[in-house]
Amino acid sequence: MVLTVDEGNSEWTGNVGVVTTILDGLDLDTPRAIGIVCGPPVMMKFATLKLLDLGFKRERIYLSMEKNMSCGFGKCGHCRIGIYYTCKDGPVFRFDKISDFPNIWD
Ligand code: FES
Repeated sequence: MVLTVDEGNSEWTGNVGVVTTILDGLDLDTPRAIGIVCGPPVMMKFATLKLLDLGFKRERIYLSMEKNMSCGFGKCGHCRIGIYYTCKDGPVFRFDKISDFPNIWD
């Protein structure tokens, strides 16, 4: 396991930097690897782009997209990603299933 923080304090002995900075140093079998991404939308966007840059297949990247859920049972529509309702069809989606929809990182 590799941990990183955006800003370390005097007690932190691990890596300091955004998550994409630690991916370059990992020995990954990218054709077989699976990426699982969750967190703030901006971090998810850049982590996913980094995984693609490293050779991860789009269908082997999973995104947790619960950020816009409100009612949680398919009535309000706040969680829609294209044809999907995150609350009913997710909240985890394969990247290749949602990547063509606009504003998935909003
Ligand atoms: S959270 Fe309301 S429709 Fe999904």
